Amino acid sequence: MSEFHPLKVVQLDRLTPNSVAITFEVPDQLKPVFEFKAGQYITIRHYFDGKEVRRAYSISSAPGHDRFTIGVKKVPSGLFSVYANTEIKVGDIMDVMPPEGRFVYDPGSNANHIIAYAAGSGITPIMSILQTALESQPESTVVLLYGNQNKEETMFYKDIEELSKLYTDRFFVQWVFSRSREEDALFGRIEASTVNFINRNKFKERVFDAHYICGPESMIKTVNTCLVEKDIKADRIFTELFTSSETAAVPLPTEDGSTEISVTLDDEEFTFRMKKGQLLLDAVLDQDIDAPYSCQGGVCSTCIAKVTEGQVTMEQNQILTDGEVEDGLILTCQAHPTTDVLKIDYDDV
Ligand code: FES
Repeated sequence: MSEFHPLKVVQLDRLTPNSVAITFEVPDQLKPVFEFKAGQYITIRHYFDGKEVRRAYSISSAPGHDRFTIGVKKVPSGLFSVYANTEIKVGDIMDVMPPEGRFVYDPGSNANHIIAYAAGSGITPIMSILQTALESQPESTVVLLYGNQNKEETMFYKDIEELSKLYTDRFFVQWVFSRSREEDALFGRIEASTVNFINRNKFKERVFDAHYICGPESMIKTVNTCLVEKDIKADRIFTELFTSSETAAVPLPTEDGSTEISVTLDDEEFTFRMKKGQLLLDAVLDQDIDAPYSCQGGVCSTCIAKVTEGQVTMEQNQILTDGEVEDGLILTCQAHPTTDVLKIDYDDV
C-alpha cells in the first residue's frame, strides 16, 4: 500500500537562499498514478545511514503536465530539507509516493472567486491552486494574502509577480512582510487586522466562494476565527497545516495492558497484540506491515484507517472532521487503542 515509484529530478530552481523548487518528470506509464488535483502533496522516501525517512511536500505546479514541481524550504535541523537544498542534483532518482491530500481545488466546482491566505512555505499548494483557477476558469478571480519575513525569503516571489502581470484584472496579491517595510506591502504578520483589511476594506464588494488557508497553526486559527466572525460558512473554508503544532502534542494518559489488534490492508488481515500505550502506526510498522504513512505528526492524511471494532483515542487531529471521526476514521499515527480488541481497516477509507 505504501507504493513508491522512482522519479527523475529534471530541474532545480533556487527560490530563495533557503528554498529550492524540485521538478520531477513523470514517465508515460506512471501518468495515471501521478495524476493530481491542485493542492495535493507527494511523499518522498530517502535513506540516511540506512534509516528510512519520509517527508510530505505539496505540489506547487498546476495539474495536467508530464512533470510536477515541489518547493522545499530548509529547516535548520531538518534532515531531508537540508539534503534537498544542498545535495540533490538534476538526474537524481527519488522514491516518490503518488499524490494525495484533501486540501484541493476542483476547477469543476462553482468556486469562481477565491481568496488564499499563505505564510512561508504554506504557499506551495496555494501556487498550484491559484494557477489552476486562473488557467482553467476564465471567469475566476484570485486574491492572495501572502506573509513572509521579507522579499528575499519569499518563495515563488518572481512567479507570483509574473502571474499578476499576466492576469492584471483577475489576480491580486497583497504582500505582508514582518521584517522589511516595502511600499507595496503591509508590515507585520497575517493577523486579524490584515485579514479584516482585505475582506472588509480592500475587497469588501467581493463575495469569495472559497477561502484557502495554509501555514502555521497560529496563522490558520487567526484567519479562521476572522472568517467565522464574518459568517463565512465552514464548507467554504479549506485549511492545511504546514508545521506541526507549536505546542507538541500532549500524549494522553496511556492505559496499561494490551490489545488484540486485527489490521486489514490490501485485502490481507494481520492479527497481533500491542500495548495500549503504543501508537497504532508504530505497532503496525513494528510488525513489518507495509502501512501507508508520511509525516507521523498528524499533519498529512496518509495514515488514515477505519475502526471497524473497538475504540481508540487520538493525541491530535487537525485533519478529520467530526463526522469522519464519528464514521470511525482515525489517524493511525496519533491513535492509541482503548479497548481490549481493536479492528482497523486501511482499505475501507
Ligand atoms: S502520517 Fe501524516 S497524519 Fe499520520
